[in-house]
Amino acid sequence: MNPILPAGAMVALGLLAGCNGESETPVDTAMLEVGERLAEGCGACHSIDSYENRVGPHLVDIIGREAASLPDYDYSPALRASGIVWDEFVLAAFIANPQSVVPDTKMVGNSLSPEEAEAIVKYLETLE
Ligand code: HEC
Repeated sequence: MNPILPAGAMVALGLLAGCNGESETPVDTAMLEVGERLAEGCGACHSIDSYENRVGPHLVDIIGREAASLPDYDYSPALRASGIVWDEFVLAAFIANPQSVVPDTKMVGNSLSPEEAEAIVKYLETLE
């Protein structure tokens, strides 16, 4: 122990050290749990585990898929013309605020923060 530092500072340093030491796995697991829970909200309009289109197109293998590429779903002209390929960054941005990424898309916003959108993307990635 360093006798010069007050006890509170030692506790704070200890907490910091703990965070640094264990960041990867616990944070990721917590994030995936949040993502899984939030993805249930997508399920109102999208299937994420079957090739069934609902109000929205299914999201199976969505990472790496070209936007508006399912032949049997009636996409908006805006999404068809977007030229997007859904990587994790554009997908997270779209989920958080669809209209900002594709103005006039049929998908309405879900009122999600960027962090929540990222958690959903991380969860969707585990399904691939
Ligand atoms: C209220 C219904 C609704 C909800 C809830 C919803 N979406 Fe959508 N989504 C749509 C519709 C409708 C489209 C088609 C948009 C278009 O054609 O412009 C769409 C399109 C998409 C696309 C583009 C798919 C493609 O084939 O290009 C992705 C990705 C997507 N949604 C992800 C999500 C995720 C993830 C969630 C949950 C956070 C979500 N959506 C919640 C209705 C919804």
